[in-house]
Amino acid sequence: MTEPQSALLARIRVHGAVPRHIAIIMDGNGRWARERHMPRAFGHRSGMKAVREVVEGALEAGVEWLSLFAFSQENWQRPETEVSALMSLLEEYIAREAAELAQQGVRVFVHGDLSRLSPPAANAVKRVVDETATGTKLGLNLFISYGGRAELVRATRQLAADVLAGRLGVDAINEEEISARLYTAGCPDPDLLIRTSGEQRLSNFLLWQVAYAELYISSLFWPDFDRGALYEAIADFQRRDRRFGKVST
Ligand code: FPP
Repeated sequence: MTEPQSALLARIRVHGAVPRHIAIIMDGNGRWARERHMPRAFGHRSGMKAVREVVEGALEAGVEWLSLFAFSQENWQRPETEVSALMSLLEEYIAREAAELAQQGVRVFVHGDLSRLSPPAANAVKRVVDETATGTKLGLNLFISYGGRAELVRATRQLAADVLAGRLGVDAINEEEISARLYTAGCPDPDLLIRTSGEQRLSNFLLWQVAYAELYISSLFWPDFDRGALYEAIADFQRRDRRFGKVST
């Protein structure tokens, strides 16, 4: 019998080494829907429930940062109907959850090329960021219209501008200066990167930041991923021997 969720939660809390930052590539909504002979948008809608589950699970486990890959730059190339279904879901998620997220102490950040969002989606994003600005329990990074390489190009442009303006010397460019120009500036790097649906790819997500993250591939499709699955991933992380290129202590 699998361990009950509450016992698993107690065990990962007692262990103590809960990842400070978990990043998730939410994958498999389309296949989940196809298995049920339903349209892809139905899979995305069910995926929204899983988002709620992992936010609550992260709060309960004592995770400080949660990063979710909600919409990639490449996703703009999906059929117009699917893109608009995803954007409507984002607006719906914010309309439904913003007040509760604020009340739970979640602070939402939204990262990516937001200039491509429709005015209603951009307004929803602004609203959730403003309404949750005082949250201190969990930082929730939503990556929308995001690509890891584009983020590095953006940071490089900022560095070049700072050098040209005389604010930064070439020799002063180091890892910290690069990290400080990423969307995630001020946020610790992910300790654990989860990808659902069995795929073993980074798909251009947080390329710089996951340098030392532990990878966890779940065979579940995203809509089936719940807080119990999150605790399983954390328990697995706690069995890892993280060496950061050094030898074990
Ligand atoms: C990948 O599944 C999932 C996405 C492209 C979108 C993720 C969106 C959500 C979970 C819902 C809304 C999220 C928020 C934060 C409100 P896929 O479509 O690539 O699945 P497939 O690989 O099986 O086709």
